[in-house]
Amino acid sequence: MVDIHSHILPGIDDGASSFEETLRMLAIARDSGTTVLVASPHADTQYRYDPGNVDRLLDQARAAAPDGLRLVRGCDFHLMYDNVEDAILNPTRYTLGGCSYLLMELSDLVIFPNTGLLWSRLEEAGMKIILTHPERNPLLRQRLPLIEEWVSEGRCMQLTASSLLGGFGPKAHAFSRTLLDRGLAHFVASDAHDTKARPPRLDLAFQWLSDNYSPRLAQLLCVDHPLAAVEGRPLDLSSFPPANPRPAAGIWSRMFKRT
Ligand SMILES: [Fe+2]
Repeated sequence: MVDIHSHILPGIDDGASSFEETLRMLAIARDSGTTVLVASPHADTQYRYDPGNVDRLLDQARAAAPDGLRLVRGCDFHLMYDNVEDAILNPTRYTLGGCSYLLMELSDLVIFPNTGLLWSRLEEAGMKIILTHPERNPLLRQRLPLIEEWVSEGRCMQLTASSLLGGFGPKAHAFSRTLLDRGLAHFVASDAHDTKARPPRLDLAFQWLSDNYSPRLAQLLCVDHPLAAVEGRPLDLSSFPPANPRPAAGIWSRMFKRT
């Protein structure tokens, strides 16, 4: 599996607090089936994003990473003026693997009316927007039509793995299902911050997607789409979302249920 969003680098944001914790997180990722992991430190008003420092820490993590786990640079890019201006001048500082996809985080407190306009400027500079965890944003949970509009304009949505399992509460879980039901979720990522409360695991979400939707959807959201993103390739959305065989079975079983 390919995890495009995590905070594994030590001491630069609210993720791993030490190199030892970084190593434990890498082991969890590898042992749970992740083969490519994006380190995406915050770039916001609280945490400054220094690409040189990120590269230095990433090199140290790569040197100590378990076999079979590839680390890629990314950024948890908060939508704010300074970030946008710098990304337009230097897209590869922020994009996944220095290619074209940009993880985009919005404020929980306000959705700026010019959000789409700012995204268009980033897109004109060659970037593709992946909106992170809309299911955890209380404002976005009230704005499904806006999300539909954004997706129709080519923006992608990333759900948090533990939201699918109820880890961010019933509202985030229910809205995750709403987005999945409507084909508005393109990625699942861990957004890992530590080893216990928010570990770098996709395996449980993969299983949940397989059980509740289809193995095909799990493959697309946890493997195929994220791999395309870290390699800077377009997503193949020609037959997305794949048909979900399970609701039909549910209807039949309900129709013939004994009373
Ligand atoms: Fe994050």
